[in-house]
Amino acid sequence: MVLPPYKIKVVEPIHLPSPAQRRRAIITAGFNTFLLRSDDVYVDLLTDSGTSAVSQEQRAAMELGDESYAGSRSFYRLETAMREVYGWQHLIPTHQGRGAEHLLSRVLVEPGQLVLSNLYFTTSRVHAELAGGVWTDVSIPEAGDPESRHPFKGNIDLGKLRDLIVREGRERIAFVRQEACLNMAGGQPFSLENLRAVRALTRELDVPFYLDATRSSENALFIAEREPGQAERSLPEILREIASLADGAVFSSKKDHFVPIGGFLATNDDAVARRARELVVVYEGFPHYGGLAGHDMEALAQGIREAADEPTVAHYVGQVRYLAGLLQEAGVPIVEPVGAHAVFLDAKRFLSHVPQEQFPAQMLAAAIYVAGGVRSMERGIVSGQHDHEPYEGLELVRLTIPRRAYSREHLDYVAETVLRVFAARREIPGLALVYEPPTLRFFQARFEPLAPLPSFEGAPVRRETPQWAPLGAEAQAGRRPARSR
Ligand code: F0G
Repeated sequence: MVLPPYKIKVVEPIHLPSPAQRRRAIITAGFNTFLLRSDDVYVDLLTDSGTSAVSQEQRAAMELGDESYAGSRSFYRLETAMREVYGWQHLIPTHQGRGAEHLLSRVLVEPGQLVLSNLYFTTSRVHAELAGGVWTDVSIPEAGDPESRHPFKGNIDLGKLRDLIVREGRERIAFVRQEACLNMAGGQPFSLENLRAVRALTRELDVPFYLDATRSSENALFIAEREPGQAERSLPEILREIASLADGAVFSSKKDHFVPIGGFLATNDDAVARRARELVVVYEGFPHYGGLAGHDMEALAQGIREAADEPTVAHYVGQVRYLAGLLQEAGVPIVEPVGAHAVFLDAKRFLSHVPQEQFPAQMLAAAIYVAGGVRSMERGIVSGQHDHEPYEGLELVRLTIPRRAYSREHLDYVAETVLRVFAARREIPGLALVYEPPTLRFFQARFEPLAPLPSFEGAPVRRETPQWAPLGAEAQAGRRPARSR
């Protein structure tokens, strides 16, 4: 067991809606968990984005926020923290990760150029395409195989990368992008060895190389655990080396930097920084705040330092593994190895009777909500299919753990809920799509079930009684147990 390096000082009340309320809520939401109201959710595992608990040090720092429009002290403190932990030269703050993706794509992508990346992230791809770019996958084949136990599914296929750049010519390549803890593959890390090779190759062929360094803290931990020769190195040291191997990075700080809002573009390239500062004033705000308040930048500066704290990162990854272990024990099909920020259920195996055109992962996420008020997210055909081209890729449901927010009891309850759905899986129908917006359809698409959902009210399925259950009839009737005097 990895012990939590914190205790709780401020709490947010949550409550479990009744089964009837949950059924009504999912119908109102068009079977899309993004469209549920948070008040209708008990344990919210939709995302780790902006949902972490802030530390007392972050809250204290927020009091020091300098809200000056230009030249804010808070900007300079943020810049110092970024340089200390990662070491890039320039920092351009943005309201969140996609703000930075927008700037980077606008600066580096000319119409018709290719962006070469390990798989894709939804907003990253859209911004490259809006700038006229063509997203091109250079991930290793194991990234798309939920059953492969490759330790570094975030690696780039070096042969494919070289061939593409040589065949297309340097001028056709906008930049190479490598994402830490590759979200769409299940939170899977890259190795330092691979990153060093990508750096060498992009130098040799003169192509810009940027990281999506979101969740690089967890990636650094996986490197320390899995990569030969890395076990003795500290987390800050590995993080620093990761950063040193790219020309810069985009960050969604809403993840491993523990802030509710924020992100940035970092770069060592003076020309890229100058161009990004020209654009940031149009789209985000003055380059000394980029859409953030002074107090946001203070919280972010402190969060960046906490992101390099090994006990904090190790406990977080330990929580993900704990939940995964409970599900694996019961035979639930999940993506392996267990990734950084979430347990990914493999909906193709979980609902093997539902064809992919009937959105098994979308339905599985809805069913888990109905069964226990637990909110998760589809990461399959709804998020992954592009321009209605045929899609046979990963079909996953993501149970994403917010950092420092939930306890073991919550995770036990989540496992219990998923197991109740697993027990009733053969009675779960597919879905029909009834509305989709033209871009990023997963956020707002609506669905209808092809048959009624089962009840999920069966007996608990875990072997031992979980701690949250034995409250006794008295407590369940809403009365407090008599206190001994
Ligand atoms: N890059 C990665 C790898 C991400 O996971 C995200 C967001 C972004 C960029 C965009 O950042 O949301 O701050 O604008 N991922 C969230 C998630 C939304 O739930 O995985 P943003």
